[in-house]
Amino acid sequence: MIYDTLMKKCIKLATKGMGSVSPNPLVGCIVLNKDGLIISKGFHKKYGLNHAERNALINLNNDETRDGTLIVTLEPCSHFGKTPPCADLIIEKEIKKVVIGMRDVNPIVSGKGIKKLKDAGIEIIEGIMEKECKELNEVFIKNMTEHKTFVAIKTATTLDGKIATSTGSSKWITSEKARKEVKNIRKRYDAILTTASTIIADNPQMEHKNKIILDRNLRTDFVNAQIYKNGICYVFYDKKIASEHLDNTLTAISKMKNVKLYPIKTKFDKIDLDDLLSKIYDLGIMSVLVETGGHLNGSILKYADKIYHFIAPKILGDNSGLSCFDFQKISDIAKASEFEYCDIKTFKPDILLTYKRK
Ligand SMILES: NC(=O)c1ccc[n+]([C@@H]2O[C@H](COP(=O)([O-])OP(=O)(O)OC[C@H]3O[C@@H](n4cnc5c(N)ncnc54)[C@H](OP(=O)(O)O)[C@@H]3O)[C@@H](O)[C@H]2O)c1
Repeated sequence: MIYDTLMKKCIKLATKGMGSVSPNPLVGCIVLNKDGLIISKGFHKKYGLNHAERNALINLNNDETRDGTLIVTLEPCSHFGKTPPCADLIIEKEIKKVVIGMRDVNPIVSGKGIKKLKDAGIEIIEGIMEKECKELNEVFIKNMTEHKTFVAIKTATTLDGKIATSTGSSKWITSEKARKEVKNIRKRYDAILTTASTIIADNPQMEHKNKIILDRNLRTDFVNAQIYKNGICYVFYDKKIASEHLDNTLTAISKMKNVKLYPIKTKFDKIDLDDLLSKIYDLGIMSVLVETGGHLNGSILKYADKIYHFIAPKILGDNSGLSCFDFQKISDIAKASEFEYCDIKTFKPDILLTYKRK
């Protein structure tokens, strides 16, 4: 199909907005003149700023756009939000044909943008590279349709599925190239999530603008631990914690403007993950990358939409080394949690396998 290649380019353009557009979708757009030549490109750069179509059309005059074609990954909007409706601008610019990757799942737009364009006599072609466009906006789709935070897990294991030795030694399982890719993956998510256990074992820095930390008993070293040195840290603790311990912690963090404490429900001496995920959503965190050990990975697995699994060609061969998902005793292989393959990449000598919920 002739529009597939152009839609692929739009998807690539859209990814330039990763990490900056949340809670909005990632959108890329290309404009062709009446002779089919590319005359402009645009993408949604930042939440609150122009949409992709507006960025692509804004500097063109009607002599350039008249009878042209606009290709866009997502249905153009028809409502006044932070910016005026893109559908109106497309009509104003006398575009003849609009090629769309996927319909918007936002109920205030879905189908209405297309109707507005059709009513103005514009030809619409829908569903070009639809699967890829939906993958591009998997976070937005989950947020809009389920009103929940998108959960991704990142883990790095040896060939025999271990994330650390029995003594907790884990630096480093994967190569520098793989660890550099982890930094790229982090940028796609609104926040990263880790635990007191991982902070105490590894003292990681985990640079990110937002960090969610599960510290039920407030046992991390708020003053010295690397994790608290940058970003906003949302620390969740057991609301039944002794008031004296809470007061001491509040005193310790009183000058740390980037650390915020949130009481949370617990179940069987563990943080209640349903409560946690709904609180995170209410805080406006639309996607989270979990970077923890096997216990939390295992508990949060049932909520996971996607897993980034780095595998290094190393074998520990020690049964008591830490497993990457440690949460159940199971005797029947048919009862294993199943996921769907998405992608494989090489960061020699390691691989990155990506899979998603079936
Ligand atoms: N290779 C990798 O990708 C990677 C990544 C991160 C960490 N690690 C390694 O993992 C090791 C730590 O693993 P870990 O399994 O001991 O710790 P973990 O999975 O990071 O954290 C487990 C702890 O989280 C807390 N927690 C709170 N709510 C929970 C819930 N609903 N379910 C489960 N846990 C909950 C509990 O501590 P409380 O009692 O405080 O509530 C629990 O002990 C470290 O040695 C670190 O090096 C490896």
